Amino acid sequence: MAEQPYILSIDQGTTGTKALLVDQDGNIRAESYQKHTQYYPHSGWAEHDPTEIWQMVLAAVADILEKANIAPHQVHAVGLANQGETVMAWDVTDSSPLYPAIVWSCRRSIAIADQWNADHDWRQRVKEKTGLRIDPYFSATKVKWLMEEVPEVNAKLEEGCGRFGTLDTWMIWNMTGKKQFVTDASTAARTLLFNIQQGEWDEEILQYLGIKKEWLAQVVPSVGELGVTCPDHFLGIQAPIRVSMVDQPAALYGHLCVEPGMSKCTYGTGCFAYLNVGTQPLTDHTDTLLSTIVWQREDAYTYALDGAIYSAGSAIEWGMNGLGLYDSIEQLQEWSKQWELCLNGGAVEKELDNEILFIPALSGLGAPYWSSDTRGMFVGMSHDTTKQDLARAILEGIAHRIADVLEAMQLVSGQQLKSLRVDGGPTRNPYLMQVQANILGIPVEAPKQAETTAMGVAYLQGESLGWWTQEQLQKKILISRRYEPQLSHERVQLKRRRWKKAIQLLQDFQ
Ligand code: G3P
Repeated sequence: MAEQPYILSIDQGTTGTKALLVDQDGNIRAESYQKHTQYYPHSGWAEHDPTEIWQMVLAAVADILEKANIAPHQVHAVGLANQGETVMAWDVTDSSPLYPAIVWSCRRSIAIADQWNADHDWRQRVKEKTGLRIDPYFSATKVKWLMEEVPEVNAKLEEGCGRFGTLDTWMIWNMTGKKQFVTDASTAARTLLFNIQQGEWDEEILQYLGIKKEWLAQVVPSVGELGVTCPDHFLGIQAPIRVSMVDQPAALYGHLCVEPGMSKCTYGTGCFAYLNVGTQPLTDHTDTLLSTIVWQREDAYTYALDGAIYSAGSAIEWGMNGLGLYDSIEQLQEWSKQWELCLNGGAVEKELDNEILFIPALSGLGAPYWSSDTRGMFVGMSHDTTKQDLARAILEGIAHRIADVLEAMQLVSGQQLKSLRVDGGPTRNPYLMQVQANILGIPVEAPKQAETTAMGVAYLQGESLGWWTQEQLQKKILISRRYEPQLSHERVQLKRRRWKKAIQLLQDFQ
Protein backbone atom coordinates (compact mmCIF):
# COMPACT_ATOMS: atom_id res chain seq x y z
CA MET A 1 0.00 0.00 0.00
CA ALA A 2 1.28 3.47 -0.92
CA GLU A 3 2.52 5.49 1.98
CA GLN A 4 0.25 8.36 3.06
CA PRO A 5 1.45 11.94 2.43
CA TYR A 6 1.23 14.51 5.25
CA ILE A 7 1.47 18.23 5.85
CA LEU A 8 3.58 19.62 8.66
CA SER A 9 2.23 22.77 10.28
CA ILE A 10 4.27 24.68 12.86
CA ASP A 11 2.92 27.48 15.05
CA GLN A 12 5.90 29.10 16.72
CA GLY A 13 4.18 31.29 19.37
CA THR A 14 5.24 33.48 22.26
CA THR A 15 5.07 30.81 24.93
CA GLY A 16 5.79 27.68 22.91
CA THR A 17 5.84 25.81 19.63
CA LYS A 18 2.94 23.72 18.40
CA ALA A 19 3.50 21.24 15.59
CA LEU A 20 0.71 19.36 13.79
CA LEU A 21 0.83 16.55 11.29
CA VAL A 22 -2.22 16.78 9.05
CA ASP A 23 -3.42 14.12 6.62
CA GLN A 24 -5.03 14.48 3.19
CA ASP A 25 -8.51 14.60 4.73
CA GLY A 26 -7.52 17.56 6.88
CA ASN A 27 -7.43 15.53 10.08
CA ILE A 28 -4.73 15.99 12.72
CA ARG A 29 -2.73 12.77 12.96
CA ALA A 30 -0.27 13.87 15.65
CA GLU A 31 0.52 16.98 17.64
CA SER A 32 3.19 18.24 19.98
CA TYR A 33 3.70 21.34 22.09
CA GLN A 34 7.10 22.45 23.41
CA LYS A 35 7.46 25.41 25.74
CA HIS A 36 10.51 27.65 25.72
CA THR A 37 11.98 29.88 28.43
CA GLN A 38 10.75 33.43 28.90
CA TYR A 39 13.44 35.89 29.97
CA TYR A 40 12.53 39.16 31.69
CA PRO A 41 15.93 40.73 32.42
CA HIS A 42 14.43 44.11 33.45
CA SER A 43 10.97 45.45 34.15
CA GLY A 44 9.11 45.71 30.82
CA TRP A 45 11.75 43.72 28.93
CA ALA A 46 11.09 40.32 27.34
CA GLU A 47 13.54 38.04 25.51
CA HIS A 48 13.74 34.57 23.95
CA ASP A 49 16.79 32.47 23.21
CA PRO A 50 16.72 31.89 19.40
CA THR A 51 18.80 28.72 19.69
CA GLU A 52 16.35 27.29 22.20
CA ILE A 53 13.41 28.21 19.95
CA TRP A 54 14.98 26.37 17.01
CA GLN A 55 15.68 23.36 19.26
CA MET A 56 12.03 23.38 20.38
CA VAL A 57 10.85 23.46 16.76
CA LEU A 58 13.02 20.39 16.08
CA ALA A 59 11.80 18.69 19.26
CA ALA A 60 8.13 19.28 18.37
CA VAL A 61 8.59 17.96 14.82
CA ALA A 62 10.59 14.93 15.99
CA ASP A 63 7.86 14.20 18.52
CA ILE A 64 5.02 14.14 15.96
CA LEU A 65 7.00 12.02 13.49
CA GLU A 66 7.52 9.53 16.27
CA LYS A 67 3.94 9.66 17.56
CA ALA A 68 2.50 9.12 14.06
CA ASN A 69 5.23 6.63 13.27
CA ILE A 70 5.91 8.03 9.82
CA ALA A 71 9.06 8.46 7.75
CA PRO A 72 10.41 11.97 7.01
CA HIS A 73 9.78 11.55 3.26
CA GLN A 74 6.03 11.30 3.97
CA VAL A 75 6.05 15.00 4.82
CA HIS A 76 5.04 16.63 1.52
CA ALA A 77 4.91 20.25 2.62
CA VAL A 78 5.89 22.44 5.55
CA GLY A 79 4.15 25.60 6.76
CA LEU A 80 4.87 28.08 9.53
CA ALA A 81 3.14 30.65 11.67
CA ASN A 82 5.32 33.02 13.67
CA GLN A 83 4.79 35.34 16.63
CA GLY A 84 5.04 38.47 14.52
CA GLU A 85 7.08 41.45 15.63
CA THR A 86 9.72 39.60 17.66
CA VAL A 87 13.11 40.30 16.07
CA MET A 88 16.74 39.15 16.34
CA ALA A 89 20.19 39.59 14.79
CA TRP A 90 22.57 36.86 13.70
CA ASP A 91 25.88 36.27 11.98
CA VAL A 92 25.30 34.59 8.61
CA THR A 93 28.77 33.06 8.51
CA ASP A 94 28.13 30.67 11.41
CA SER A 95 24.40 31.34 12.11
CA SER A 96 25.09 32.37 15.68
CA PRO A 97 22.61 34.78 17.28
CA LEU A 98 24.26 38.06 18.25
CA TYR A 99 21.82 38.80 21.05
CA PRO A 100 18.60 37.25 22.42
CA ALA A 101 15.46 37.73 20.33
CA ILE A 102 13.57 40.83 21.51
CA VAL A 103 9.95 39.81 22.02
CA TRP A 104 7.01 41.82 20.61
CA SER A 105 5.81 42.69 24.14
CA CYS A 106 9.20 44.16 25.15
CA ARG A 107 9.08 47.89 25.88
CA ARG A 108 12.85 48.59 25.99
CA SER A 109 12.77 50.77 22.86
CA ILE A 110 10.16 53.20 24.17
CA ALA A 111 12.60 56.16 24.11
CA ILE A 112 13.37 55.50 20.44
CA ALA A 113 9.65 55.36 19.66
CA ASP A 114 9.04 58.63 21.60
CA GLN A 115 11.79 60.38 19.71
CA TRP A 116 10.46 59.11 16.41
CA ASN A 117 6.90 60.07 17.35
CA ALA A 118 7.85 63.66 18.19
CA ASP A 119 7.54 64.79 14.57
CA HIS A 120 3.78 64.76 13.96
CA ASP A 121 3.94 64.95 10.15
CA TRP A 122 6.46 62.13 9.97
CA ARG A 123 4.35 60.04 12.32
CA GLN A 124 1.40 60.48 9.98
CA ARG A 125 3.50 59.54 6.96
CA VAL A 126 4.77 56.40 8.69
CA LYS A 127 1.16 55.44 9.48
CA GLU A 128 0.18 55.94 5.83
CA LYS A 129 3.12 53.90 4.59
CA THR A 130 3.06 51.04 7.09
CA GLY A 131 -0.50 51.07 8.46
CA LEU A 132 1.00 51.01 11.97
CA ARG A 133 1.61 53.39 14.83
CA ILE A 134 5.14 54.14 15.93
CA ASP A 135 5.27 51.92 18.99
CA PRO A 136 7.89 49.65 20.64
CA TYR A 137 5.52 46.75 19.85
CA PHE A 138 6.79 46.61 16.25
CA SER A 139 10.24 45.41 15.15
CA ALA A 140 11.74 48.69 13.86
CA THR A 141 12.50 50.37 17.18
CA LYS A 142 13.90 47.06 18.51
CA VAL A 143 16.21 46.82 15.48
CA LYS A 144 17.35 50.39 16.13
CA TRP A 145 17.92 49.54 19.80
CA LEU A 146 20.11 46.55 18.80
CA MET A 147 22.13 48.82 16.50
CA GLU A 148 22.59 51.45 19.20
CA GLU A 149 23.12 49.29 22.25
CA VAL A 150 24.82 46.05 21.17
CA PRO A 151 28.41 46.61 19.89
CA GLU A 152 28.60 43.02 18.64
CA VAL A 153 25.64 43.68 16.31
CA ASN A 154 27.25 46.82 14.94
CA ALA A 155 30.60 45.11 14.42
CA LYS A 156 29.01 42.28 12.43
CA LEU A 157 26.95 44.70 10.34
CA GLU A 158 30.14 46.56 9.47
CA GLU A 159 31.89 43.31 8.60
CA GLY A 160 28.98 42.59 6.25
CA CYS A 161 27.83 39.40 7.96
CA GLY A 162 25.20 40.73 10.41
CA ARG A 163 21.52 40.29 9.52
CA PHE A 164 18.20 41.10 11.17
CA GLY A 165 15.22 38.81 10.99
CA THR A 166 11.85 38.00 12.48
CA LEU A 167 11.49 34.43 13.75
CA ASP A 168 10.01 33.09 10.49
CA THR A 169 13.23 34.15 8.77
CA TRP A 170 15.29 32.50 11.50
CA MET A 171 13.34 29.22 11.22
CA ILE A 172 13.43 29.13 7.41
CA TRP A 173 17.15 29.96 7.48
CA ASN A 174 17.76 26.97 9.73
CA MET A 175 15.34 24.62 7.98
CA THR A 176 16.85 25.24 4.56
CA GLY A 177 20.42 24.71 5.74
CA LYS A 178 21.20 28.47 5.62
CA LYS A 179 20.03 28.79 2.00
CA GLN A 180 16.97 31.00 2.22
CA PHE A 181 16.91 34.45 3.80
CA VAL A 182 13.24 35.34 3.33
CA THR A 183 10.18 36.63 5.15
CA ASP A 184 6.60 36.84 3.96
CA ALA A 185 4.59 40.01 3.40
CA SER A 186 2.39 39.56 6.51
CA THR A 187 5.46 39.36 8.76
CA ALA A 188 7.26 42.20 6.97
CA ALA A 189 4.10 44.26 7.53
CA ARG A 190 4.63 43.99 11.32
CA THR A 191 8.11 45.51 11.29
CA LEU A 192 7.18 49.19 10.73
CA LEU A 193 9.74 49.12 7.90
CA PHE A 194 7.46 47.80 5.15
CA ASN A 195 5.33 49.88 2.85
CA ILE A 196 2.00 48.05 2.72
CA GLN A 197 0.73 50.13 -0.21
CA GLN A 198 3.71 49.31 -2.43
CA GLY A 199 4.62 45.91 -0.98
CA GLU A 200 8.30 46.60 -0.36
CA TRP A 201 10.74 47.71 2.33
CA ASP A 202 10.27 51.47 2.62
CA GLU A 203 13.46 53.25 1.50
CA GLU A 204 12.63 56.45 3.34
CA ILE A 205 11.99 54.73 6.67
CA LEU A 206 15.11 52.58 6.30
CA GLN A 207 17.14 55.71 5.62
CA TYR A 208 15.61 57.52 8.60
CA LEU A 209 16.70 54.68 10.89
CA GLY A 210 20.02 54.01 9.17
CA ILE A 211 19.03 50.43 8.25
CA LYS A 212 20.42 48.95 5.02
CA LYS A 213 18.12 46.83 2.87
CA GLU A 214 20.70 44.05 2.56
CA TRP A 215 20.47 43.48 6.32
CA LEU A 216 16.81 42.48 5.88
CA ALA A 217 15.29 39.37 4.35
CA GLN A 218 13.81 39.23 0.87
CA VAL A 219 10.03 39.61 1.07
CA VAL A 220 8.07 36.82 -0.64
CA PRO A 221 4.37 35.83 -0.85
CA SER A 222 2.90 34.03 2.17
CA VAL A 223 1.91 31.09 -0.02
CA GLY A 224 4.25 29.70 -2.68
CA GLU A 225 7.74 28.25 -2.90
CA LEU A 226 9.54 29.73 0.09
CA GLY A 227 12.41 27.23 0.03
CA VAL A 228 13.03 23.52 0.46
CA THR A 229 13.95 22.07 3.83
CA CYS A 230 17.41 20.52 4.03
CA PRO A 231 17.24 16.91 5.34
CA ASP A 232 20.61 17.24 7.09
CA HIS A 233 19.31 20.17 9.14
CA PHE A 234 15.67 19.24 9.47
CA LEU A 235 15.31 15.71 10.77
CA GLY A 236 15.64 14.05 7.37
CA ILE A 237 12.73 16.05 5.92
CA GLN A 238 13.15 17.34 2.37
CA ALA A 239 9.94 19.17 1.55
CA PRO A 240 8.89 22.52 0.12
CA ILE A 241 8.03 25.28 2.57
CA ARG A 242 4.72 26.36 1.09
CA VAL A 243 3.29 28.75 3.68
CA SER A 244 4.69 31.27 6.14
CA MET A 245 2.77 34.02 7.91
CA VAL A 246 2.17 35.73 11.25
CA ASP A 247 0.04 33.78 13.74
CA GLN A 248 -2.89 36.23 13.89
CA PRO A 249 -3.49 36.17 10.11
CA ALA A 250 -3.05 32.38 10.24
CA ALA A 251 -5.84 32.23 12.84
CA LEU A 252 -7.98 34.48 10.60
CA TYR A 253 -7.49 31.93 7.83
CA GLY A 254 -8.05 29.07 10.29
CA HIS A 255 -11.54 30.51 10.89
CA LEU A 256 -11.90 30.86 7.11
CA CYS A 257 -12.54 34.57 7.50
CA VAL A 258 -11.58 34.95 3.86
CA GLU A 259 -14.19 37.48 2.74
CA PRO A 260 -14.23 41.20 3.51
CA GLY A 261 -16.34 41.87 6.60
CA MET A 262 -15.41 38.62 8.35
CA SER A 263 -13.74 38.96 11.74
CA LYS A 264 -12.08 36.88 14.40
CA CYS A 265 -10.80 37.45 17.88
CA THR A 266 -8.08 35.33 19.48
CA TYR A 267 -8.22 35.40 23.29
CA GLY A 268 -4.90 34.68 24.94
CA THR A 269 -2.73 36.68 27.32
CA GLY A 270 -4.13 39.64 25.41
CA CYS A 271 -6.73 39.63 22.63
CA PHE A 272 -6.15 40.14 18.95
CA ALA A 273 -9.13 41.11 16.81
CA TYR A 274 -8.86 41.17 12.99
CA LEU A 275 -11.38 42.29 10.40
CA ASN A 276 -10.76 41.19 6.81
CA VAL A 277 -11.16 44.31 4.63
CA GLY A 278 -10.26 42.79 1.26
CA THR A 279 -7.63 43.60 -1.31
CA GLN A 280 -7.11 47.30 -0.52
CA PRO A 281 -5.81 48.66 2.78
CA LEU A 282 -8.24 50.94 4.61
CA THR A 283 -7.10 54.37 5.65
CA ASP A 284 -8.07 54.79 9.27
CA HIS A 285 -8.94 58.48 9.66
CA THR A 286 -9.77 57.96 13.32
CA ASP A 287 -6.20 56.79 14.02
CA THR A 288 -7.50 54.16 16.44
CA LEU A 289 -6.64 50.89 14.66
CA LEU A 290 -3.85 49.33 12.66
CA SER A 291 -3.96 48.34 9.04
CA THR A 292 -1.99 45.28 8.06
CA ILE A 293 -1.36 42.69 5.35
CA VAL A 294 -2.73 39.29 6.38
CA TRP A 295 -1.51 37.26 3.45
CA GLN A 296 -0.07 37.58 -0.02
CA ARG A 297 -1.02 34.96 -2.63
CA GLU A 298 0.88 35.51 -5.86
CA ASP A 299 0.64 39.27 -6.44
CA ALA A 300 -2.56 39.79 -4.49
CA TYR A 301 -2.53 41.12 -0.95
CA THR A 302 -5.35 40.72 1.55
CA TYR A 303 -5.56 43.37 4.25
CA ALA A 304 -7.17 43.57 7.68
CA LEU A 305 -7.89 46.07 10.39
CA ASP A 306 -6.16 44.98 13.55
CA GLY A 307 -6.96 45.90 17.14
CA ALA A 308 -5.19 44.44 20.14
CA ILE A 309 -5.96 44.66 23.84
CA TYR A 310 -3.09 43.77 26.14
CA SER A 311 -4.84 42.14 29.12
CA ALA A 312 -7.36 39.32 28.88
CA GLY A 313 -6.09 35.90 29.99
CA SER A 314 -3.47 37.76 32.02
CA ALA A 315 -6.26 39.63 33.87
CA ILE A 316 -8.03 36.31 34.57
CA GLU A 317 -4.74 34.91 35.94
CA TRP A 318 -4.25 38.03 38.05
CA GLY A 319 -7.72 37.61 39.54
CA MET A 320 -6.52 34.22 40.79
CA ASN A 321 -2.83 34.71 41.61
CA GLY A 322 -2.81 38.41 42.41
CA LEU A 323 -6.16 38.90 44.13
CA GLY A 324 -7.08 35.39 45.26
CA LEU A 325 -10.65 35.79 43.97
CA TYR A 326 -10.78 32.11 42.96
CA ASP A 327 -8.50 29.20 43.78
CA SER A 328 -8.21 27.88 40.26
CA ILE A 329 -9.36 28.46 36.70
CA GLU A 330 -11.60 25.41 37.21
CA GLN A 331 -13.35 27.18 40.07
CA LEU A 332 -13.89 30.27 37.91
CA GLN A 333 -15.19 27.96 35.21
CA GLU A 334 -17.71 26.42 37.65
CA TRP A 335 -18.91 29.85 38.78
CA SER A 336 -19.09 30.96 35.15
CA LYS A 337 -21.37 28.07 34.24
CA GLN A 338 -23.72 29.13 37.04
CA TRP A 339 -23.65 32.77 35.97
CA GLU A 340 -24.32 31.78 32.40
CA LEU A 341 -27.32 29.71 33.52
CA CYS A 342 -28.65 32.73 35.40
CA LEU A 343 -28.11 34.89 32.30
CA ASN A 344 -29.93 32.43 30.10
CA GLY A 345 -32.68 31.93 32.63
CA GLY A 346 -33.44 35.64 32.42
CA ALA A 347 -32.77 36.20 36.12
CA VAL A 348 -29.72 38.10 35.15
CA GLU A 349 -30.42 41.68 35.16
CA LYS A 350 -31.58 41.96 38.75
CA GLU A 351 -29.26 39.48 40.31
CA LEU A 352 -26.11 39.81 38.32
CA ASP A 353 -26.08 43.45 37.55
CA ASN A 354 -23.95 44.41 40.49
CA GLU A 355 -22.88 47.61 38.77
CA ILE A 356 -19.20 46.87 39.29
CA LEU A 357 -16.94 47.65 36.37
CA PHE A 358 -13.38 46.54 35.91
CA ILE A 359 -11.15 48.00 33.19
CA PRO A 360 -8.44 45.42 32.47
CA ALA A 361 -5.67 47.89 31.61
CA LEU A 362 -3.06 45.99 33.61
CA SER A 363 -0.41 46.61 30.90
CA GLY A 364 -1.87 49.81 29.50
CA LEU A 365 -4.80 50.38 27.15
CA GLY A 366 -4.21 49.19 23.59
CA ALA A 367 -6.61 49.81 20.70
CA PRO A 368 -8.53 52.02 20.25
CA TYR A 369 -7.17 54.25 23.08
CA TRP A 370 -3.41 53.62 22.83
CA SER A 371 -2.46 54.78 26.26
CA SER A 372 0.55 52.77 27.45
CA ASP A 373 0.79 54.41 30.87
CA THR A 374 -2.84 53.80 31.89
CA ARG A 375 -3.46 51.08 34.47
CA GLY A 376 -6.55 49.09 35.52
CA MET A 377 -9.49 50.13 37.68
CA PHE A 378 -12.43 48.64 39.61
CA VAL A 379 -15.45 50.96 40.12
CA GLY A 380 -18.66 50.58 42.09
CA MET A 381 -17.81 48.39 45.11
CA SER A 382 -19.99 48.35 48.25
CA HIS A 383 -20.10 46.41 51.54
CA ASP A 384 -22.07 43.73 49.69
CA THR A 385 -19.45 43.17 47.03
CA THR A 386 -18.17 39.62 46.95
CA LYS A 387 -15.20 37.91 45.36
CA GLN A 388 -17.56 36.47 42.77
CA ASP A 389 -18.76 39.96 41.85
CA LEU A 390 -15.19 41.06 41.22
CA ALA A 391 -14.38 37.90 39.26
CA ARG A 392 -17.42 38.50 37.06
CA ALA A 393 -16.42 42.12 36.54
CA ILE A 394 -13.03 40.95 35.21
CA LEU A 395 -14.74 38.81 32.56
CA GLU A 396 -17.19 41.56 31.67
CA GLY A 397 -14.32 44.06 31.41
CA ILE A 398 -12.60 41.88 28.82
CA ALA A 399 -15.83 41.68 26.80
CA HIS A 400 -16.24 45.46 26.92
CA ARG A 401 -12.67 46.03 25.75
CA ILE A 402 -13.26 43.78 22.74
CA ALA A 403 -16.47 45.69 22.06
CA ASP A 404 -14.41 48.94 22.10
CA VAL A 405 -12.16 47.50 19.38
CA LEU A 406 -14.94 46.05 17.24
CA GLU A 407 -16.98 49.26 17.44
CA ALA A 408 -13.93 51.14 16.14
CA MET A 409 -13.57 48.56 13.36
CA GLN A 410 -17.17 49.05 12.29
CA LEU A 411 -16.76 52.81 12.34
CA VAL A 412 -13.57 52.78 10.28
CA SER A 413 -14.67 50.14 7.79
CA GLY A 414 -18.29 51.24 7.52
CA GLN A 415 -19.20 47.55 7.77
CA GLN A 416 -21.74 46.08 10.14
CA LEU A 417 -20.33 42.89 11.67
CA LYS A 418 -22.66 39.91 11.42
CA SER A 419 -20.86 37.52 13.75
CA LEU A 420 -17.53 37.06 15.50
CA ARG A 421 -15.45 33.89 15.38
CA VAL A 422 -13.32 33.28 18.44
CA ASP A 423 -10.47 31.04 19.56
CA GLY A 424 -8.03 30.69 22.45
CA GLY A 425 -8.18 29.41 26.04
CA PRO A 426 -10.54 32.04 27.57
CA THR A 427 -13.19 31.21 24.91
CA ARG A 428 -13.91 28.09 26.94
CA ASN A 429 -15.47 30.35 29.56
CA PRO A 430 -19.22 30.30 28.72
CA TYR A 431 -20.06 33.41 30.72
CA LEU A 432 -17.36 35.48 29.00
CA MET A 433 -18.61 34.34 25.59
CA GLN A 434 -22.29 34.95 26.40
CA VAL A 435 -21.54 38.43 27.74
CA GLN A 436 -19.42 39.07 24.65
CA ALA A 437 -22.37 38.20 22.38
CA ASN A 438 -24.72 40.31 24.52
CA ILE A 439 -22.52 43.39 24.46
CA LEU A 440 -21.71 43.12 20.77
CA GLY A 441 -25.29 42.32 19.81
CA ILE A 442 -24.08 39.68 17.32
CA PRO A 443 -23.56 35.91 17.59
CA VAL A 444 -20.18 34.71 18.85
CA GLU A 445 -19.03 31.43 17.31
CA ALA A 446 -16.47 29.09 18.86
CA PRO A 447 -15.24 26.42 16.41
CA LYS A 448 -14.79 22.75 17.31
CA GLN A 449 -11.22 22.84 16.04
CA ALA A 450 -9.13 24.45 18.80
CA GLU A 451 -5.88 24.67 16.79
CA THR A 452 -7.05 27.56 14.65
CA THR A 453 -3.62 29.07 13.97
CA ALA A 454 -1.73 25.91 12.97
CA MET A 455 -4.78 24.71 11.02
CA GLY A 456 -4.93 28.02 9.14
CA VAL A 457 -1.40 27.26 7.93
CA ALA A 458 -2.41 23.67 7.12
CA TYR A 459 -5.51 24.81 5.18
CA LEU A 460 -3.39 27.05 2.96
CA GLN A 461 -0.81 24.32 2.41
CA GLY A 462 -3.46 21.76 1.46
CA GLU A 463 -5.07 24.23 -0.96
CA SER A 464 -1.72 24.90 -2.63
CA LEU A 465 -1.13 21.14 -2.94
CA GLY A 466 -4.56 20.70 -4.51
CA TRP A 467 -5.71 18.53 -1.58
CA TRP A 468 -8.86 20.58 -0.99
CA THR A 469 -10.61 23.79 -1.99
CA GLN A 470 -11.86 26.66 0.13
CA GLU A 471 -15.44 25.49 -0.53
CA GLN A 472 -14.62 22.04 0.84
CA LEU A 473 -12.94 23.62 3.84
CA GLN A 474 -16.04 25.70 4.62
CA LYS A 475 -17.84 22.42 5.31
CA LYS A 476 -15.08 21.35 7.69
CA ILE A 477 -15.37 24.40 9.95
CA LEU A 478 -17.76 23.11 12.57
CA ILE A 479 -19.02 25.43 15.24
CA SER A 480 -18.94 23.84 18.68
CA ARG A 481 -21.03 26.56 20.22
CA ARG A 482 -22.82 29.65 18.97
CA TYR A 483 -23.69 32.27 21.59
CA GLU A 484 -26.69 34.36 20.53
CA PRO A 485 -27.08 37.91 21.90
CA GLN A 486 -29.82 38.07 24.53
CA LEU A 487 -29.82 41.60 25.82
CA SER A 488 -32.11 44.36 24.59
CA HIS A 489 -30.54 47.16 22.58
CA GLU A 490 -31.46 49.70 25.28
CA ARG A 491 -29.82 47.64 27.98
CA VAL A 492 -26.64 47.25 25.91
CA GLN A 493 -26.54 50.97 25.24
CA LEU A 494 -26.88 51.68 28.95
CA LYS A 495 -24.01 49.34 29.80
CA ARG A 496 -21.81 50.76 27.07
CA ARG A 497 -22.47 54.34 28.20
CA ARG A 498 -21.44 53.50 31.75
CA TRP A 499 -18.37 51.69 30.45
CA LYS A 500 -17.27 54.67 28.35
CA LYS A 501 -17.74 56.99 31.31
CA ALA A 502 -15.45 54.72 33.32
CA ILE A 503 -12.85 54.72 30.53
CA GLN A 504 -13.00 58.51 30.43
CA LEU A 505 -12.63 58.65 34.20
CA LEU A 506 -9.58 56.43 34.03
CA GLN A 507 -7.96 58.42 31.27
CA ASP A 508 -8.58 61.70 33.10
CA PHE A 509 -7.12 60.20 36.25
CA GLN A 510 -3.83 59.12 34.66
O1 G3P B 1 1.52 40.35 17.96
C1 G3P B 1 1.92 39.28 18.76
C2 G3P B 1 1.01 38.09 18.60
O2 G3P B 1 0.85 37.75 17.25
C3 G3P B 1 1.55 36.94 19.41
O3 G3P B 1 0.63 35.91 19.51
O4 G3P B 1 -0.12 33.69 20.20
O5 G3P B 1 2.32 34.12 19.99
O6 G3P B 1 1.05 35.17 21.85
P1 G3P B 1 0.98 34.63 20.45
